[in-house]
Amino acid sequence: MSESKTYPPSHAFASRANVSGMEAYREMYARARHDPGRFWGDLAHSELSWFTQPLKTLEWDPPFAKWFSGGRINACYNCVDRHLTDGRKAKPAILWEGEPAGDQRSITYEELHHLVTRFANALRHLGLRVNDRVIIYMPMIPELAVAMLACARLGIIHSVVFGGFSAEALRARIQDLDARLVITADGGWRRGKEVRLKAAVDEALEGLAHVRNVVVYRRTGSAIDMKNGRDIWWHDAEAAAASTPATTDPCEPAKLDAEHPLYVLYTSGTTGKPKGILHTTAGYLLQTSMSMKWVFDLKEDDIFWCTADIGWVTGHSYIVYGPLCAGATVVMYEGAPDYPAYDRFWSIVEKYRVTIFYTSPTAIRALIRQGNKWPEAHNLSTLRLLGSVGEPINPAAWEWYYKVIGKERCPVVDTWWQTETGAIMIAPIPGAVPQKPGSATLPLPGIFPDVVDARGEPVEDNKEGYLIIHWPWPSMARTIWKDPERFKEQYWSRVPGAYFTGDAARRDSDGYYWILGRVDDVMNVSGHRLSTMEVESALVHHPAVAEAAVVAKPHEITGQAVCAFVTLKKGDYNTEQLREELRQWVAHEIGAFARPEEIRFTEALPKTRSGKIMRRLLREIVTTHSVTGDITTLEDMSVVSALAAQHEED
Ligand code: WTA
Repeated sequence: MSESKTYPPSHAFASRANVSGMEAYREMYARARHDPGRFWGDLAHSELSWFTQPLKTLEWDPPFAKWFSGGRINACYNCVDRHLTDGRKAKPAILWEGEPAGDQRSITYEELHHLVTRFANALRHLGLRVNDRVIIYMPMIPELAVAMLACARLGIIHSVVFGGFSAEALRARIQDLDARLVITADGGWRRGKEVRLKAAVDEALEGLAHVRNVVVYRRTGSAIDMKNGRDIWWHDAEAAAASTPATTDPCEPAKLDAEHPLYVLYTSGTTGKPKGILHTTAGYLLQTSMSMKWVFDLKEDDIFWCTADIGWVTGHSYIVYGPLCAGATVVMYEGAPDYPAYDRFWSIVEKYRVTIFYTSPTAIRALIRQGNKWPEAHNLSTLRLLGSVGEPINPAAWEWYYKVIGKERCPVVDTWWQTETGAIMIAPIPGAVPQKPGSATLPLPGIFPDVVDARGEPVEDNKEGYLIIHWPWPSMARTIWKDPERFKEQYWSRVPGAYFTGDAARRDSDGYYWILGRVDDVMNVSGHRLSTMEVESALVHHPAVAEAAVVAKPHEITGQAVCAFVTLKKGDYNTEQLREELRQWVAHEIGAFARPEEIRFTEALPKTRSGKIMRRLLREIVTTHSVTGDITTLEDMSVVSALAAQHEED
């Protein structure tokens, strides 16, 4: 195996890094390994603000963990209120840039406190109480963060649904959560067009009685329908609360249990039905904010920009909870990276003097394709650290990022983690851990991964296996909403006592982890998680479709792309037209990001004798354009040759 290039931390960076050198990292890692409870317990004590200190660090009844029992805490208090008295009152919390030219706002911690308490009062006035569930379906505007923090302040469980999800997908989430309220906006801006969010909410809510109200923020000013008795403007809800003595300021933060549910975030698993991943309060806050200090080397004057949408876990942990808990200034951008031109990211970096920039390999690859003239037209000298997340970063993209954007000055932190892990698990701590392009490198302190075979036995160095994590960690998912059995079975049954990530990996002789991608039916398109089954069930809803099988195929920019094999019901079709119609259909059922790149019509699908679709074969067809290996269990061999032949014709 060829060893890749290694980039040690520069002296300039290491000399002022929060973790300054390999020895400091090793010492911290060893301390956490020796006594993880004490390690996390001490940090919880020093880093978080408690109403009541916890009594115990961990109660572990596998796979169910309770962290910091007995402690009373509030996430909103930790992210907002405490910064009013720690010298950060006038510090910008959010620097927001809208997509349309000139749209911008700067919100200090004091202003954020005002916005959050005012909106929390509106929620109280609408009758929402601790443990109620609220769906948030908003564009990337500060009010999205305000809505989340206001829920957290009251102990209301929020679930943010990415604005790119369709009405259908939104409806499924509203139902699964039995939500009482939906918070939305008239629309948001993306690539110069309005994304009509309120219209999607109206469609999603048809016939759902348990949603009593919809709060609508006015963002675009376009005409929308307001349903009498159900829909209320954000500003009217606030005004109504402000004129009622019981719901005026101050809105005190609720003193919640350390394990109080903070949010549910739906993510794709191996079935058609997305899973509601539940995160709780104290452990999640602790680990997201610690990773800001360790992985992003956060300093008081940093300007931190994570380009993810808050609708995904990356935005939850690294736009809202992690950075705000750590008292950082975050940049938040509403729109597309290529609008109005390919230098939008770089113009934002320049304008806000961003020091830490965190994005996805897909975005990097898409920008590489446009050429160096776009970044070169901007002053990027404020940057000191670059991050990557969501999918494996290929060494060529890494090198470009390091050289063209970071000018070989900025460490690149390739961060591996998942919706379920809550916070970054494996990443090079800059200033300490030498980087190897394409490797997420070493685990963070308190995280004990391993690479194992199908029996759960550790594999040798450089051999591929399943990535697992031993021992619970504070920001781990606590369960799947309403489905603890599935939580147990999916994540904690393959290797007893250990967490099964669903990723393949290998570990090299330096102990570095190389993530190789999913081993299950989860696809990763532009860093967005999508299950093959989700797309298949969308396709078979279409009246012309008899059967569908979906696999991921490699894609130069988005990492993977959706490829669907479809058999049709009897009838006369214009297949060109139908192909486009089915692509739109999937966009309508799930969201535009799930639209298949390719649809192949076929007479039949390859199945085993027991009737299971042989996805492995289909994957091989789209990857290598031929089929190898054992196909003796295949029911109808002719299908495979037909599929392979079809490719020859294409
Ligand atoms: C993949 C996103 C390689 C992985 C935070 C994981 C990565 C899935 C990396 C989780 C990385 C995430 N290198 N692969 N640095 N980061 N992944 O839940 O397959 O949206 O299981 O969380 O993304 O995606 P999720």
